[in-house]
This record gives sequence, C-alpha cells and structure tokens, in this order.
Amino acid sequence: MTYDTTTSPLLRPARLGDHELANRLVMAPMTRNRAESDGTATPLMAEYYAQRAAAGLIIAEASTPNPVGQTYPNIAALYTDAHTTGWRRITDAVRAAGGGPMFLQVQHGGRVGHPDTSGLTPIAPSPLALPETIHTPAGRRAAVTPREMNAEDIRTTVRDFAATARRALDAGFAGVEVHSANGYLLHQFLAPNTNRRRDAYGGSVENRIRFTTEVVDAVVDAIGADRTGLRISPGHTVNGITDTDAGLLYPALLEANADKGLAYLHIAFAAPAHPLFARLREIWPGSLIANPVLPADQIPADGGREAAERLLDVGADLIALGRPFLANPDLVERLRTGAPVNAVRARYAMYTGGPTGYTDYPTHN
Ligand SMILES: Cc1cc2nc3c(=O)[nH]c(=O)nc-3n(C[C@H](O)[C@H](O)[C@H](O)COP(=O)(O)O)c2cc1C
Repeated sequence: MTYDTTTSPLLRPARLGDHELANRLVMAPMTRNRAESDGTATPLMAEYYAQRAAAGLIIAEASTPNPVGQTYPNIAALYTDAHTTGWRRITDAVRAAGGGPMFLQVQHGGRVGHPDTSGLTPIAPSPLALPETIHTPAGRRAAVTPREMNAEDIRTTVRDFAATARRALDAGFAGVEVHSANGYLLHQFLAPNTNRRRDAYGGSVENRIRFTTEVVDAVVDAIGADRTGLRISPGHTVNGITDTDAGLLYPALLEANADKGLAYLHIAFAAPAHPLFARLREIWPGSLIANPVLPADQIPADGGREAAERLLDVGADLIALGRPFLANPDLVERLRTGAPVNAVRARYAMYTGGPTGYTDYPTHN
C-alpha cells in the first residue's frame, strides 16, 4: 500500500512496539453482536474485519473472558477452544487481506449483563443495579441487582482475563486490550458511584484502582507487557457511571501502570482541550491511542479527520475511530483521497444479525 503522506499526518506510518503500522488510524473496538449465541466468532465477522484491513491497527470488539462476563446477546467470547478457532479465522482473514496487527479487547460486563442472556446472575463490586434497561434475547428488560464479588470472584476473574489473553495469542492476535472503560466491570471498580466496597478494593482512589491494576498485571504475566493495552474513558458517563473524582483517579491509575512497558494506553472520548488529557499524556510514557469525541448523532463529513488531527497535535500517537470505520470499510482510502464518507445507518444494526448494516456498507468506488 502506498499513501500520499502529504495528505494527513494520520496516514503516516507509525510504530507500536515491534509493529510497523501502515498509518496512525486504529479501528476502535465495536461490539456488533454477530457472534454465535455461545460467543464463537462467525465467518461473517471475518468478512467485516477483512474489509477494514487497511487500518494501521484493528482492536477487535469486546470479548468476554468467562460466561458471567457476558453483556448482551451474541457478543463475542474467548474462553473455549471453539472460541479460539473462531477468532483464528478472523485474524487469518485480516492477514490475508494485507492487514496489520490486531489486538482483542477483553471485556467483563460486571453489572451490565442479564440472567436471561447468560443464565447467570451478574457480579459486580457492589450490589447496585444498572439504572437502565438492558438488551436480552427477548428484548429490553430491567437490569437485575448484581451479586457483590467476594475475594474468590476477584481472583477467578483476574485469572480468566489472563487465560483469555493467552488464548488471544493462540488465535493470532498481537495482544489484548484490557477494557477498563465505558461502565463495564473494571470501570465499576474505579468509579465511586458503583463501588461501595469497604475492603482493599473500595473507598480510596488507591483501593479503587487495585482491581484494574491486578488485571493488567495478570495479563502482563501471561503474555508480556508489550502485548498488553489498557482502555479508559475518564469522565465519560455511560452505563450509569459517574467518575466524580476523575482528576485524581486516572492520574493515580496511570502512575500505577506507567512503568510496566505496556503496548499502549487507549483513551476513549478524549477531549484535546481538557486539562485532564494533557495531564494523562504527561504521565503516560508510552504509546497513546486517543479516540476523539465526534457528534453523537452522526459522524462528520470529513470522517473525523479534523478531530483526529487535533489529538495528534496535542500528543496522541495513534487515533482510534469507531463509527467512521463501521460505516466505511475503505475509510483509510477515503481519508487519503478526501472522498465523502458514508453516514452511519440507524442504530448500528446491533441486534439484527446478518450482513445488513454490517458488511454491506459500500466502498467509494
Ligand atoms: C456499535 C458500537 C459498538 C461499540 N462497542 C464497543 C466495545 O465493544 N468496546 C469499547 O470499548 N467501546 C465500544 N464502543 C465505543 C467505540 O469504541 C468508540 O469509543 C465510540 O464509538 C466513539 O468513537 P466514534 O465517535 O469514532 O464512533 C462502541 C461504539 C459503537 C458505535
């Protein structure tokens, strides 16, 4: 692939650890609910990712490390041999399409889960229900109160993240991204409104960052720091999370993890003008992937290019885009040529299954 590198700094090659990336564009992790009901990745998913192989780096969608971590119907999983085989088909397809490295995001839903979906009562740092309805196989249902995790649950969950990380390498991924963002389990430990624990995992900032840090350490032990990424979403209110002390919490979390030599830190919904972004960039010594804040209703006409370049200007190394990649399999080529981008079709076709709204977004030519 040759790019006109004068077009945009986004299209310049970059390094991520030992990886040479063709450009600075990262496909953000996006749950699309196209797996089998047991979480096995499907051939349709292989087609979807292969269509987007021109991204410098692909972070594949949130995948659960165990049954109780399942969030929604038909989300991906990685804890059985069948799951490993399913994901292997996808990394092979992306490689065959000339793609760069892929990381897999590992996500435990915590209280964002439902017995009608997983057959299990969700577990969380504290028995506080998600204050929203949640999608289940039978449609939206009221969330249930999760069971408070005990010491054994914490140990098991940490081990499951590490086991899934090992499987990710077997499945052909370059590494995994630990999902500590967007109101799922790890974020539920971080945020004071979802963590009311009185033990070593709750209360002070130092205690609330402990679980994420233990998961990171276990994954690093399993597969190496250079294969371990971490995603956070400071201050982003989603899934009933309020990070009221983000200005203290995230600097502390980063300081605790800065010296490990992780592959990258990934900040979702990064605001370049926010003082916290500058502070986190200052603390984090390694590669930083930033995901810009684009309008919630629709992607901008430039595919997010201007917002992305602003983040490069303030120190991001790589830029993750979600919906622009979702709607444009040839996003990299469109950004190179300035071709108009496809708009996202209604509701991301998340619970419809099949190719419509998934693999049928047209390329520009
Ligand atoms: C359909 C959809 C699914 C998503 N699934 C995930 C996910 O699995 N893990 C995650 O960390 N973020 C997820 N996100 C958030 C995206 O990674 C990204 O942060 C968000 O869409 C904002 O970026 P954008 O404006 O470029 O789309 C999802 C977003 C969308 C639209």
